[in-house]
Amino acid sequence: MNLKQMAGIEAAKYVEDGMIVGLGTGSTAKFMVDEIGRRVKEEGLTITGVTTSKETERQAQALGIPLKSIDEVPYVDLTIDGADEISADFQGIKGGGAALLFEKIVATYSKQCIWIVDKSKMVNKLGKFPLPIEVVPYGSQQLVHLFEEKGYAPVLRTTPTGDLVVTDGGHYIIDLHLEVIEDPIALGTYLDQLVGVVEHGLFLNIVSTVIIGGENGPETIHV
Ligand code: A5P
Repeated sequence: MNLKQMAGIEAAKYVEDGMIVGLGTGSTAKFMVDEIGRRVKEEGLTITGVTTSKETERQAQALGIPLKSIDEVPYVDLTIDGADEISADFQGIKGGGAALLFEKIVATYSKQCIWIVDKSKMVNKLGKFPLPIEVVPYGSQQLVHLFEEKGYAPVLRTTPTGDLVVTDGGHYIIDLHLEVIEDPIALGTYLDQLVGVVEHGLFLNIVSTVIIGGENGPETIHV
């Protein structure tokens, strides 16, 4: 079985009747949403989904999963989402699929967060994966210059056809090529206070369970 699919199916077992469930974005989350859709249809599972992107919203609607927006629910019981990198101390980089802002909002108001990954995403230190920064278009070039001066090797993200990527929130993405992030907390604090930065892809002290797809079956780690 595909390792992402393995993790996605395993995570869907944690969903219980009556839960408000945050539905993540990306190729791994897609398998989890498919499995929850199957459980809704075949097992009569009753949940309310809160999606983290237009892409996941379309998928969940097509599967017949009842949805509400994050502003229509008191909280989220459980969010299941993918990740781009997870460090040995369970900090993460997300946003490879440009959905980091809505993903972080839903995760922040969730009682529990499960990340689902294949084993290639587990690293010692974060940073090989370019760190996505979601920025307001106005002034974005100034932020690119600032990050260049800091030696962060910034690249404004474009589509395969060369257009600038625009997120569901109407922002641009700057990817920072850092190679290694020695102190994610300090970097996150620095990025948080920059004018024009809407959100960054460092998801710190947020995950409660990690499910890793591997050749010997899914491994579940409670953080
Ligand atoms: C979306 O913006 C991301 O945070 C994804 O959750 C992350 O990039 C993992 O994606 P894949 O499951 O497609 O690798």
